Amino acid sequence: MSNPADRPVPQHVAIIMDGNGRWANARGLPRTLGHRKGVEVVRDTVKTAREAGIGYLTLFAFSSENWRRPQAEISELFGLLKAFVRRDLAELHAANVRIRVIGDRVTLQPDIRTLLLEAEERTAANSGMTLVIAFNYGARDEIARAAARLALDVREGRLDPSEIDAEKLNGSLDTAGMPDPDLIIRTSGEERLSNFLLWQAAYSELMFVPDFWPDFSAELFLSVLDRYASRDRRFGGLSTKPMAAVGL
Ligand code: FPP
Repeated sequence: MSNPADRPVPQHVAIIMDGNGRWANARGLPRTLGHRKGVEVVRDTVKTAREAGIGYLTLFAFSSENWRRPQAEISELFGLLKAFVRRDLAELHAANVRIRVIGDRVTLQPDIRTLLLEAEERTAANSGMTLVIAFNYGARDEIARAAARLALDVREGRLDPSEIDAEKLNGSLDTAGMPDPDLIIRTSGEERLSNFLLWQAAYSELMFVPDFWPDFSAELFLSVLDRYASRDRRFGGLSTKPMAAVGL
């Protein structure tokens, strides 16, 4: 592994935490235990990300499609998020972490809405890493809500349609003000984005690791960051890396 001091660190890492259910099944355990172990890994991952100097860490905790799961599993995931915020908020705040939540909150129960809002408000002035929790999040839904916001601005005379461009739409997304993810990681071997940050992923590096989320250790995270450091990001332009550094 290269020296952490000299490798480019992604400013924003987003993670699709997949495989909790399969991790549990492989051990003859109920799926809920996979999710519980998953929360422990969330804690370790936040710590590793902070120590690595990552500015934004986005975690896909509940998708707008997860409502298709059995009610008991949905309740478990909601319960785990609430417990995480209640238990870990003080520690995250003390560590100067800012919390932001993306996703559709309008359809959530008032108690969870209040909890998420309180977590955001209490940590809003923090200047360390931003932990972005994607909850009841779906990228197509996010883009549609952004379009609706712009349409409302047009209808109410605050915006002319000719002013609508990529920057305007970007600024109407839940992620307004955040940098796009430099790196998106998905665990469990599945190789797709599953409606996660579709707009923001335009130039993201994608990394798929075979391990289930409960097995995503700090060592594995650091090895993924190492692999990221060797990628040649061009954003449609030309390489600025020497040929040897990109394996040619
Ligand atoms: C995917 O595994 C994981 C989820 C749908 C939920 C992820 C949630 C957590 C790790 C806990 C809550 C999060 C926070 C931030 C406190 P899966 O159930 O789809 O696994 P499978 O594909 O093996 O069935």
